[in-house]
Amino acid sequence: MATQSATAQPDAHRPTAATTHEVMIHAEGVTKTFGHGSSQITALDNVTVDIRKNEFFTLLGPSGCGKTTLLRLIAGFDLPDAGQILLDGQEIGHLPPYKRPVNTVFQSYALFPHMSVARNIGFGLEMQGRPKSEIKDATEEMLALVQMQHLAGRRTDQLSGGQQQRVALARALAPRPKVLLLDEPLSALDLKLRKEMQIELKRLQGETGITFVFVTHDQEEALTMSDRIAVMQAGSILQVGAPKEIYNNPARRFVADFIGDINILDGDLDAKGERVILPGGASIRALLPEGAARTGRVSVAIRPENMNLTAPDAPEAALTGRVTNIVYFGAGHNVHVALEGGGEVLVRRAQTDAQIGAHVGLSVPDAVQVLVD
Ligand SMILES: Nc1ncnc2c1ncn2[C@@H]1O[C@H](COP(=O)(O)OP(=O)(O)OP(=O)(O)O)[C@@H](O)[C@H]1O
Ligand SMILES: [Mg+2]
Repeated sequence: MATQSATAQPDAHRPTAATTHEVMIHAEGVTKTFGHGSSQITALDNVTVDIRKNEFFTLLGPSGCGKTTLLRLIAGFDLPDAGQILLDGQEIGHLPPYKRPVNTVFQSYALFPHMSVARNIGFGLEMQGRPKSEIKDATEEMLALVQMQHLAGRRTDQLSGGQQQRVALARALAPRPKVLLLDEPLSALDLKLRKEMQIELKRLQGETGITFVFVTHDQEEALTMSDRIAVMQAGSILQVGAPKEIYNNPARRFVADFIGDINILDGDLDAKGERVILPGGASIRALLPEGAARTGRVSVAIRPENMNLTAPDAPEAALTGRVTNIVYFGAGHNVHVALEGGGEVLVRRAQTDAQIGAHVGLSVPDAVQVLVD
């Protein structure tokens, strides 16, 4: 430890991949357009992002936002118009797909139907001309990893959807790529199997230590599985963060709206830009993301589970209104409240004794998230 550089902290320990967040993929100013003239589409617009070693990283966004395009550029199936992509510190722009230490699992699995499970799994290594014994060992290891040993000899057109999914994963993992790209690999599965495979994928990522870049437009899937999520819209990455960060502190209106239910209220920042005045006059500490206005009218976001119903004259009632509807959904109740002065909010409680028509107060968190448009 004494050999650390002079600028190191006095008690600094040797950094590890986990503490230093070593970067596996660095995309810098990546732009990709399709078509020409008036029909030109900017699929990716100046995207810069770091994906760390050994992380489960998810690209989340609506259809057409550029998720597959970004994966295809990382894999080398397409080239960017501008910008560059580094993989483990190396510029990979000149490398064809098969020379990149990257493998892809497609939504369609793309297995060879006439070949056995084992042969499918070993196929990539066979193409690389690896020795037979190595292929055999790797195939056995992968069969065990995805728990498919008992089906090694079966043709893949005689497997269930979930089993095919496992073979596709094993085949992609067998050559031990540095990065595994997964483009909506679970979308063909029914809900129960999908949930099982989510846990399975997370386990595989942990056990192999391979960096996973996972694409989905399902926000719940992204929140459950990811170490970090990049929320995309119209060719741009709007926010990158851990699931809790993205959920609790969405910086942009689109991110707040896209993930879960949320109440978006108008407010006014005070002169110092520290507190926001809600419509009823309550003053709450403001959480200001980068790029937010420091004064004037703003939008603030509050999750339904972070609000509570109170008596209208209770000191903690930041807002008041009237209950318009109560919807039971199994794990709790959604209470809809029309605010005095206009607008409606949703309050989510496990239990409630609220009555439709009742005049109520609403408590809010100590600090509220201000959104950038
Ligand atoms: N080869 C292509 N030629 C022309 N336009 C393309 C091509 N590939 C993608 N696009 C366009 O680029 C944009 C981004 O497409 P992309 O496939 O990356 O979206 P996506 O986020 O993966 O969407 P989805 O969730 O529907 O798969 C879309 O507007 C799409 O129509
Ligand atoms: Mg896609």
